[in-house]
Amino acid sequence: MEQRVRGCPRLEGKVSPPGDKSISHRAVILSSIARGRARLSNFAPGADCRSTVSCLRELGVEIVEESPGMLTVSGVEALREPKDVLDAGNSATTIRLLAGLLAAQDFLSIITGDDSLRSRPMGRLIHPLRLMGADIWGRGGDSLAPLAIKGSRLRGIQYRLPMASAQIKSAILLAALFAKGETTIEQPAPSRDHTERLLRAMGAKLESDGLRVTLAPAPALSAIDLHIPGDISSAAFWLVAGAIHPNARIRLKDTGINPTRMGIIEVLLDMGAKLTIEGERMEGGEPVAELAIESSDLAGRQIGGDLIPRLIDEIPLIAVAGCVARGTTVIRDAAELRVKETDRIRATVRELSKLGAHIEELPDGMIVHGGRKLEGGECYSHHDHRLAMALGIAGLVAQGETVIHDAEVVAFSYPAFWRDLERLCRRTAEKGGS
Ligand code: S3P
Repeated sequence: MEQRVRGCPRLEGKVSPPGDKSISHRAVILSSIARGRARLSNFAPGADCRSTVSCLRELGVEIVEESPGMLTVSGVEALREPKDVLDAGNSATTIRLLAGLLAAQDFLSIITGDDSLRSRPMGRLIHPLRLMGADIWGRGGDSLAPLAIKGSRLRGIQYRLPMASAQIKSAILLAALFAKGETTIEQPAPSRDHTERLLRAMGAKLESDGLRVTLAPAPALSAIDLHIPGDISSAAFWLVAGAIHPNARIRLKDTGINPTRMGIIEVLLDMGAKLTIEGERMEGGEPVAELAIESSDLAGRQIGGDLIPRLIDEIPLIAVAGCVARGTTVIRDAAELRVKETDRIRATVRELSKLGAHIEELPDGMIVHGGRKLEGGECYSHHDHRLAMALGIAGLVAQGETVIHDAEVVAFSYPAFWRDLERLCRRTAEKGGS
């Protein structure tokens, strides 16, 4: 599908971002192995979390969708050997977290995904799981999916993660629940901590100081009902749209503001965004607030170091903000972007250049020369949902029409994205409201 986006005179309204994708994956996985029944509301609507749900169903878990976004999960005492190959689709969180869980189950499973997922690194997952005693193999000399996993008795490990990856940390924690002895993971920088928060809320014995996490094996987790907060990584598109559009005012309801995901808010504030955080509260162990953004005069910034894992998924979008901001924006220490749904450094530079951006590729990031008026053009999502949406936001402030090819991929995380864009875009200059 191709999506056409034109500039609009005014951007205004309220958005409820879809339920957080990272939290949804974890909530349904942990509820599947917990004692009791959990009700999960505002469950992420995208295809990625549906992949996790269908894998868990193949593993014998009863998951009922009572109404859109409302799931009931009945935890099982033991997962069941799947009859067929498990399909994680496009979702790295699905394959990596489930691999950790499957490493400890008493059966054989094979898990794979689409072309993009089959090209993403799995050695970083296989290595620590093997140290725990797992029997796990991958294609390409144990570096790629499909993965074959024969469940075995695991032992706790002390492991230093070579990169700040919440997926690998979570995979190890899931395996560690079933291992003999404690597991300690050290990270080079803090990454999202939703697994730790949920494990603790469900009764696991877990200690964490942000960099070092220690988990004792858990005899049984207890199911808890959860209302999943709005996804800050989806809200981020409207934060940037509101900040760079000359006539905008947008409010974002019930959005997660977990400090390990707040990098985008910190960067926008530092760039001079008129962004406010209101009504902070806790929901299901996660901080949530309402965010308001309006047209701002942004200035370029240097972004790198420990901040990167806290905004890793928002970097294509920060590049869009950098194009419009005064001065130069430099993004470093983000080589991880090269192994996301696509090589996000190369693809972002290539596609924004087609819209008139002055942007250079670095081995671990990019340099964006700001103060440009973007021009509409034809660009391509590279089958990457976050790049498709970032290009949509660029199209909103570009002159003329922008055509985004393969735009349907937004459905991996934010199926209503194009509809929300259309709804916020006021074709007349008069004040709207929703
Ligand atoms: C995620 C972790 C990040 C992120 C991804 C979701 C998660 O990946 O990019 O979109 O839910 O744990 P890495 O763990 O590979 O950094």
